[in-house]
Amino acid sequence: MAEIRIRNTEERISGEENVRAFLSSQEVLYEHWNPAKLPAHLQDKFVLSDEEKAEILSTFDEEIRDLAARRGYRTWDIVALSDATPNLEELLKKFENVHTHTEDEVRAITAGKGIFIIKGTDDVGYFDVELEAGDVISVPEHKPHFFTLMDNRQIVAVRLFIETEGWIAHPFADPAFQKA
Ligand SMILES: [Fe+2]
Repeated sequence: MAEIRIRNTEERISGEENVRAFLSSQEVLYEHWNPAKLPAHLQDKFVLSDEEKAEILSTFDEEIRDLAARRGYRTWDIVALSDATPNLEELLKKFENVHTHTEDEVRAITAGKGIFIIKGTDDVGYFDVELEAGDVISVPEHKPHFFTLMDNRQIVAVRLFIETEGWIAHPFADPAFQKA
C-alpha cells in the first residue's frame, strides 16, 4: 500500500484511507488494484517478453478499461525497469528532474516499487509517494513532479495515456526543490 513522506516535516502518512484523503487534498488520484490477480510467474519478473506484457494487460483488462472509461484514456502499455534495463543509470538521471506534462501521468504498479516526488500545495511543499504492487496513481496535468525507482530498483507498471504526445516532459526549474 502506498505511503506518503512530506519532505519539509518528515511526516509520514500510511493506511489506504489516509493516503487517499491526503492525495485527494493534493488533487492526486489514488486507487488500488488487487496485485494477487497477477499470475505467480509474473509477480517477481522485471524483464518481460511481449507475450508477458500482454498477459499483464489482459490480467488487469477490466481495471484498465474501467479507469480509461472514467478518465478518458485511449491507449496503454507496460513499462518494466530493473538493473537489466540498458542504460538504467542514464535513464534515472533523466527521470530525476522536476517537470510537468500537458496531460496527467497515470501509473498502475503491477510489480516492484517506485516513488513519485510531487510539488504539493504551498503549505505542504514537496512530498514523496512510495508505491508498490497494486497502487494506482494519477498526477494531474501541469503539476510539477518526477518519478524514480526505490532501492530495490525494480518496477513493472501500466501507463495510460489520452494522447501519447501529451506525455512529453517540460522541465520545471524550481529553486524550492531540494533533492532527498
Ligand atoms: Fe512525468
